[in-house]
Amino acid sequence: MDQPRLYNELAYLWPIISPPGEYAGEAAEWRRIIKGKLGPARHSILELGVGGGHILSHLTQAFQATAVDISTPMLELSRRLNPDVTHHQGDMRTVRMGILFDAVLIHDAIGHMLTEADLKAAMVTAKAHLRPGGILLIAPEWLREEFAGPILFIWTRGNQDIKVTIQEYLYYPDHDDSQIESIYSYMIEEQGKVSIERDVHVNGLFSGSMWSELFEQVGFSLERVSLPGNEGGYGGNMFIGTLPTD
Ligand SMILES: C[S@@+](CC[C@H](N)C(=O)[O-])C[C@H]1O[C@@H](n2cnc3c(N)ncnc32)[C@H](O)[C@@H]1O
Repeated sequence: MDQPRLYNELAYLWPIISPPGEYAGEAAEWRRIIKGKLGPARHSILELGVGGGHILSHLTQAFQATAVDISTPMLELSRRLNPDVTHHQGDMRTVRMGILFDAVLIHDAIGHMLTEADLKAAMVTAKAHLRPGGILLIAPEWLREEFAGPILFIWTRGNQDIKVTIQEYLYYPDHDDSQIESIYSYMIEEQGKVSIERDVHVNGLFSGSMWSELFEQVGFSLERVSLPGNEGGYGGNMFIGTLPTD
């Protein structure tokens, strides 16, 4: 699977174009849901596909966190932001740390699971890291029945040193397929100079019924909850799987 340039040589752009502060509201929802399910203690959580650790940075006070990502530069960003978190490099489809957690979280990184087999493998990884009665929370950006692309997003972020304008064209290249594609351009203005970088992100797209089927196949009982969602209509769903207690 080809990884986007954003998680490799362009990783330095991530905290600029998607700053940690913008995740506070979403993180508060995740915190409320986890505490609601497991109680008020400082539970152990594992985030698969932690990226820059932006959402995690709002959860480390409330939980004892461990993080996994496949990308060295993204792990570096998260280590810097979350110095007390244990980080491991690994693929969420195959990584096995031999540690059990109270909850496993997969946020927007789940989009990188492109096939049903990949998605199921990530759920099996989560199960392998959960104690009996533990919970898996996944928030896909889109469900197949809710995606009515193409959509064009344009936004600008930056600080006194650098300004980045991002254009994302998100579309469905093949309706028989389980994948959508985003074509990105990052226009970077720095010290009076402008450069443009291009990138392509391919994401998996599955129906709500497929999500339910896979959770059940892996051995979770499933609850689906609505989230406030984001401007642009994505991120309005969370799937919560619970393992049996024995
Ligand atoms: C959009 S970023 C996550 C951002 C994160 N939510 C944050 O708060 O910064 C997606 C991440 O998924 C990671 N990723 C993609 N495929 C993966 C895989 N198979 N296993 C683990 N991580 C993966 C990428 O390296 C990237 O860091």
